[in-house]
Amino acid sequence: MGHGGDVIAELTTDHREVDELFGKIEALSPGDKQRKKYADQAVIELVRHSVAEEAYLYPAVREFLPDGDTVADKEIEDHAEAERTMKALEAVGADDPEFDRLIGELMTEIRSHVRDEEDNLFPRLRSAASEEELMKLGDKVRQAKKTAPTRPHPSAPDTPPANKLLAPGTGMVDRIRDALTGRGKD
Ligand SMILES: [Fe+2]
Repeated sequence: MGHGGDVIAELTTDHREVDELFGKIEALSPGDKQRKKYADQAVIELVRHSVAEEAYLYPAVREFLPDGDTVADKEIEDHAEAERTMKALEAVGADDPEFDRLIGELMTEIRSHVRDEEDNLFPRLRSAASEEELMKLGDKVRQAKKTAPTRPHPSAPDTPPANKLLAPGTGMVDRIRDALTGRGKD
């Protein structure tokens, strides 16, 4: 399944991509360097996904669902928790036993987020909002995710926003979030 369609299809595609990366990590033995590479890719995808959901999905949830505020607040809290795990994860190498614990924690948190959205939130939103509304949100979400890099590689080109993303002092999670939201812009 490629990207496109309404907001629910778009975000579901993101979920499958992250599932796939988690599967690749689980298929490798602890300590394998490739696990860190896949973890970094998953973190990038997850931050992009979270920023897009916070900008467009949760405002729609607040608008269209009668208990939307409660639902959106809980999802945002879940994102904050996953982001704390991702920040801890970005600091450890694949050969650190802490890496195994943190990646396990992140997978548990994200899989529960995904189940919750796909089993509850998305079906409810689909029946509450028009397809036209959901299509418009899909376009906005795709637009919102565009600014972020696809890889955090040190060989990234020396032009904005990549050089900004590699600025020292902050971690990858914050740099990606800043680039996507325009936070901390001069
Ligand atoms: Fe999601």
